[in-house]
Amino acid sequence: MDIQKRIIQLTSELNQHNYNYYNLDNPTISDYEFDTLLKELESLEAKYPEFKQGDSPTMRVGGQITKIFPVFTHLRQMLSLGNSYSREDLTNFDEQVVKLAGGNPFTYFLEHKFDGVSMSLHYEKGVLVRAVTRGDGVQGDEVTANVKTIRTIPLKLNGADIPDFIEIRGEVMMLRKAFEDWNNERELNGEDRLMNPRNATSGALKQQDSAEVARRPLTFFAYQIANEEQSAPTDFENVARFQQWGFKVSGHHAQCANIEAVLTYINEWESKRFDLDYDIDGIVIKVNEVGMRGEIGYTSKTPRWAIAFKYPAASITTKLLSVDFQVGRTGKITPVANLAPVLLAGTIVKRASIHNADEILRLDLHNDDVVNIEKGGEIIPKITSVAKRTEGAKPIEFITHCPDCGTLLVRPEKEVNYFCINENGCPTQLKGKIEHFAHRKAMNIDGLGTEIVSKVVDAGFVKNYADLYDLKYEDLLKLDKFGDQSAKNLLAALEVSKKISFEKVLFALGIRHVGSSGAKKLAKHFGSLAAMQAASVEELTNVTDVGETTAKTVKAFLDEPANQAILQRLENAGLQMVGDAPKTPMGNLLAGKSFVISGTFVHYTRDGLKEYIESQGGEVKGGVTKKVTYLIAGAEAGPSKIEKAEKEKVTILSEDDFRALIGGI
Ligand code: IVH
Repeated sequence: MDIQKRIIQLTSELNQHNYNYYNLDNPTISDYEFDTLLKELESLEAKYPEFKQGDSPTMRVGGQITKIFPVFTHLRQMLSLGNSYSREDLTNFDEQVVKLAGGNPFTYFLEHKFDGVSMSLHYEKGVLVRAVTRGDGVQGDEVTANVKTIRTIPLKLNGADIPDFIEIRGEVMMLRKAFEDWNNERELNGEDRLMNPRNATSGALKQQDSAEVARRPLTFFAYQIANEEQSAPTDFENVARFQQWGFKVSGHHAQCANIEAVLTYINEWESKRFDLDYDIDGIVIKVNEVGMRGEIGYTSKTPRWAIAFKYPAASITTKLLSVDFQVGRTGKITPVANLAPVLLAGTIVKRASIHNADEILRLDLHNDDVVNIEKGGEIIPKITSVAKRTEGAKPIEFITHCPDCGTLLVRPEKEVNYFCINENGCPTQLKGKIEHFAHRKAMNIDGLGTEIVSKVVDAGFVKNYADLYDLKYEDLLKLDKFGDQSAKNLLAALEVSKKISFEKVLFALGIRHVGSSGAKKLAKHFGSLAAMQAASVEELTNVTDVGETTAKTVKAFLDEPANQAILQRLENAGLQMVGDAPKTPMGNLLAGKSFVISGTFVHYTRDGLKEYIESQGGEVKGGVTKKVTYLIAGAEAGPSKIEKAEKEKVTILSEDDFRALIGGI
């Protein structure tokens, strides 16, 4: 088949599958089949970038790096909304709108106030060309490549009658469940949990590598057409259009004939909002008839035709019973409050998170305090303040020694957390490390969950990862409630784990700052443990996304004699310490040449470009040094890279220069 036709066909087919999966929750193809089609498209696009479609689903996986987000002046200011906190505020708002409407009839449109990050999307002839954050309302950051990875944002509007230009505004969000999963993954990777879905969303959008954004589970709800000449007569009708164009809508909007109906909706959602799968911080009330809004007018910052109603936070007071100090696998100490059980927003609360030692001081917590607790986006609520103190009560003190092994705790410079530094001797840390090692996303050792890990560690059979592979059938039988079958199963699972890929072994080691994606990149770059062990800190930082801190931690880990002995034993046991053989180049057009890629490109994604260079025998490096042959500088290439290239006399190629070099592919 004609290549261009195949690319167009794959693009439209994959976009439809994405829509079925993300918008309709109704996949009609297996993940495997989807990935196979996507890979086919990716490789065709890498070879024939001139046929790549403006709405290619390969952009969903990202790969573009933006060092500095360009500033974009909004075509129309992004206003904020006036707030109201009581039913009375709303009645006043209604009276004013009735007056300003000059006797003309109107209705209200009601919608959840989505608690995320507002975003303006520009579509030219139906194709998403630009995404800009709200910023200060006048100017925002252009984050197009990042936003293109959000599956619920159509890259091309669906249907006929698409205007030449349309600006759609809405909110980028992280659903609660996705946020929980994301936080769990962060924890697994040894990173701190994030406070709430909004912070997680805003952090995600600031990533420079769009492939990183693609990994974060973001979603989007549209709420406004900013160029009103393209709007339907009412916002109610606009929602139907959003849906038809391919956006996901929450479906909980309503139109109301009068303020009484508005109040009924608000009352209804006061408690129901906790059952939603996303966070809202109130209800937005707007005049539904778009054509009347100009008449009703604006203040300098907010429209007079809309207002936000904010529910009081779900909070309650209860008694602080005690504070537990938990030890994580990295030795991090996390304080957790035990509370007298109390019903809050539909669930019984017994515990609250306190993030770190500073938080105890900031809240000035004392024994037996009555505390205010509040429920936000997280499942575990937080303590917001002290409501009442018992006379003579003593302040809660942060522990000085590890609650498990008794080692003196250390708070490293610039850290908010305390750590137990008895890395190899603290039983709780060891259990955490072994659990991580056995995790589904690491060595995937079936049957080695929390309970069994605890047993083998407490029995003294396992003092490090390598000991796992020396476990004997007879030893296992000595464990409490551990029979013949369990012992055989565990040994079989350990045997199977020896086939797990090198990148997963690397992740399983639980080196701080090396998450699953970091391990993948390190494994791909070096190809083997031996090559990694030979690498300097500088060479480690040549790996995409490996910064100085990570490189130093990796180096320190690999240089530590105790770790070296364990790694040697793991290798002797038969674990994979070598990755897949590097791909054999398809040609040798670029053999012996090395490249640094910076900025964004018209014809290539960064990954596509990298893949092409490597397929032609060239090498792609992370940083500019004297030894690099070329710096390929796309749009918004990093100024420091350009400066360094000039200084080191490295040839700088524009995208067109590069295309000329390779004969116009
Ligand atoms: S309509 C002011 N509808 O709230 C122009 N805004 O505090 C009309 N927001 O910047 C905005 N959900 O980011 C509208 N359903 C919704 C919304 C919503 C959240 C945000 C929006 C705006 C902020 C104002």
